[in-house]
Amino acid sequence: MPPISEQNRQPSTTSLSSKGDKVIDPSTYFSTHVPPSNLNASKILVSEFVSKNSKINRPVVLVTSGGTTVPLENNTVRFIDNFSNGNRGAASTERLLEEGYAVIFMHREHSLQPYNRHYTHSAERFLDYFVAGENGEVQINLKYKEKIQTDFEKYSKAINNNQLLMVTFVTLSDYLFLLREVSLTLAAMKRNAMFYLAAAVSDFFIPSHNMSEHKIQSREGNLTLEMNQVPKFLKPLVMNWAPDSYIVSFKLETDPELLVPKARHALSNYGHQIVIANMLHTRKTEVWLIEDKKESHHLQLDSKEAANGVDIELLIIQELVKRHKEWINKN
Ligand code: PMT
Repeated sequence: MPPISEQNRQPSTTSLSSKGDKVIDPSTYFSTHVPPSNLNASKILVSEFVSKNSKINRPVVLVTSGGTTVPLENNTVRFIDNFSNGNRGAASTERLLEEGYAVIFMHREHSLQPYNRHYTHSAERFLDYFVAGENGEVQINLKYKEKIQTDFEKYSKAINNNQLLMVTFVTLSDYLFLLREVSLTLAAMKRNAMFYLAAAVSDFFIPSHNMSEHKIQSREGNLTLEMNQVPKFLKPLVMNWAPDSYIVSFKLETDPELLVPKARHALSNYGHQIVIANMLHTRKTEVWLIEDKKESHHLQLDSKEAANGVDIELLIIQELVKRHKEWINKN
């Protein structure tokens, strides 16, 4: 990635955050950062995918999944990351495919992926799924064969029928550039498009022009970082990039007192359709669906479902698909 040139750097447009710090606006972000090298290739794939599904009137959903990294150096040796492993996005994608949606699965490289997640990140090691046959050739361990067969069929059917497209990001910057491109393309599907923003996007970053070019040297002693606030990209997404589509954002908190008020604040601030609120430690068993001027809707797995490994995404997607359909009909 070439370093950003002085000529490319434009004076930042800024606004004040609640703490009085300066927050750049989203358009300034794009004009002062270099797009990822795979952006054009992903853009072409997304455009073909949307066009094919549009022709057969199949609804398309963008699922964002996994965490973004924040590099500390332009030639990155160190970066800040977060906890998200992408299970929410991957499990939701499986359910959305079963509901007949086409899915653009925009995920953090090497995070959990639909169907594959059962093998790549399970308690078993990948090679334990195989045994040696009579002549030493590789065979699937019979214990796993039925499950692998089912997942393989669902996965390959989705790929071959143009129902599943995978595109990747790693850094915050990759994510933001890709989100904008995908949103602008998908917006053409208007109400038939859904945005399911489950990725855990960094809230703080170091602008490219403030970053050390090379590896930060430890001989210089303690390291103090000053990070800027990432502008809220939900605003341009809802207002400009895809104003006619159904937008689902997520709200994650660790303090229960903040969860619902902050989810409601996001709805009134951005004016989108729904927020799915979850707590860090219970996110796999309970969530709240929050719409403006309505009671929040609590979804929770019972203890038997949780013990049997039922994914809460089954409940989330059932409810969401119903609401998306109602919203299309109402509008
Ligand atoms: O991946 P898993 O381990 O399964 O975990 C799933 C999850 C907990 C990550 C997921 O369920 C979830 O809650 N994702 C959103 C977490 C998050 O980033 O919340 P937030 O409060 O920081 O952001 C709220 C919304 O604002 C997000 O939908 C995001 O798209 C948006 N946002 C965030 C930052 C930013 N700069 N601009 C934004 O528009």
